[in-house]
Amino acid sequence: MTTAPRRYHVTTFGCQMNKADSERMAGILDGMGLVFCEDPNDANLILYNTCSIRDNAEHKVYSYLGRQAKRKHEEPDLTLIVAGCVAQQEGEALLRRVPELDLVMGPQHANRLQDLLEQVFDGSQVVATEAIHISEDITKPRRDSEITAWVNVIYGCNERCTYCVVPNTRGVEQSRTPEAILAEMEELGRQGYKEVTLLGQNIDAYGRDLPGSTPEGRHLHTFTDLLYRVSDVEGIERIRFATSHPRYFTERLIRACAELPKVCEHFHIPFQSGDNDILKAMARGYTQEKYRRIIDNIRKIMPDASISADAIVGFPGETEEQFEKTMELVEDIGFDLLNTAAYSPRPATPAALMADPVSEEVKADRLQRLNRLVGVKAEERSRRYLGRSEEVLVEDINPKNPAQVMGRTRGNRLTFLDGKIDELKGKLVEVKITEVRPFSLTGNML
Ligand code: SAH
Ligand code: SF4
Ligand code: F3S
Repeated sequence: MTTAPRRYHVTTFGCQMNKADSERMAGILDGMGLVFCEDPNDANLILYNTCSIRDNAEHKVYSYLGRQAKRKHEEPDLTLIVAGCVAQQEGEALLRRVPELDLVMGPQHANRLQDLLEQVFDGSQVVATEAIHISEDITKPRRDSEITAWVNVIYGCNERCTYCVVPNTRGVEQSRTPEAILAEMEELGRQGYKEVTLLGQNIDAYGRDLPGSTPEGRHLHTFTDLLYRVSDVEGIERIRFATSHPRYFTERLIRACAELPKVCEHFHIPFQSGDNDILKAMARGYTQEKYRRIIDNIRKIMPDASISADAIVGFPGETEEQFEKTMELVEDIGFDLLNTAAYSPRPATPAALMADPVSEEVKADRLQRLNRLVGVKAEERSRRYLGRSEEVLVEDINPKNPAQVMGRTRGNRLTFLDGKIDELKGKLVEVKITEVRPFSLTGNML
């Protein structure tokens, strides 16, 4: 046994949920006396927090893992952990594929890392993928930023979009109590954090599973109620949230955002496709007309709000005409940002068995056309900022120009300005915007 403290490394793939889970798991490792280490090759405990949303995300994991598994033959002391969505999806099968692994743990088990590791250090190979009630987080996360923080409000997803692995990998919805969320935010405020992003795969589902819900589906703790409850934490200047689902999105939420000064004017509402038959095959539960009404309503109540979304091209059976409906929607709405992806068939999802897969060439072509339009529209949206004064929360130096710092506007546009990070980090500054690009801005501090 070595007496030097173990050095751990964490690599995170995937979404904000995974980032938040990684920060909590790193906090647990710190609490156990391990020492963080930037370079995986210097670490003797490596944790890969994995993503399975598309095939290429999953493949990346196997290539990273392969390299470290090889290392283990020379360094038997090396502990290898796979956490996250690939771990949940593959379970035991992962051990057969990579027998060098010590621990395979699904997202619901993130807060149990210490328990699981103790079993590993006792000599077991451990797989933790059974569905469990997620224990309240009692650790101090090791957060990447000192200014902005993630706060989970609901884990899991009860939707069954036919292309998506998330319900399989993250399990059923589990809301945290408003008290726990508020306590975490108050602690963040005391620690000097300025911005909180509330996280849920379908954040509008918040509270459905909490006691106090009624059989009719009305409940005391909707996400909007939660926003009112946490909207005035001392020190926290900005609140963001993601992801909204068009099926459950309410006007009451828009009104809350308009009314609550700390809640930023930005909505992330994925639409996935602009064609009603594709939306039906995806089992999204809304039409493109309903989606447009939601956006119209936001723009009526909050004309300047930023709107971002996700979309998939090349879902099975998608015709050129159906794809053009997606292009039309993007043309008409003009998103500030759109995350686009070519459809990727995933294990144990209904869409993977659907007829008429779209060829890789056609998917790539549609993706390229869509991305081009997204860039044009984003540039149009950026132009409204030109000459305006915008509030920017300074987060870091501009890695490409150390004479500049960078931060985000309330609408979530990345913004660069001249200044010194030691003076400006964590400050809200007014910036006159002098230059605009599709996805970023430049300006001068007023
Ligand atoms: N809960 C969010 C999205 C979570 S996954 C929602 O309901 O919108 C993030 C994005 O990945 C999705 O919005 C979708 O656009 C994309 N995605 C999910 N599964 C995919 C698949 N099989 N192929 C391609 N993109 C996919
Ligand atoms: Fe996946 Fe749909 Fe749930 Fe989003 S709402 S995580 S796309 S199943
Ligand atoms: Fe990926 Fe899991 Fe998030 S599949 S996108 S890490 S929920």
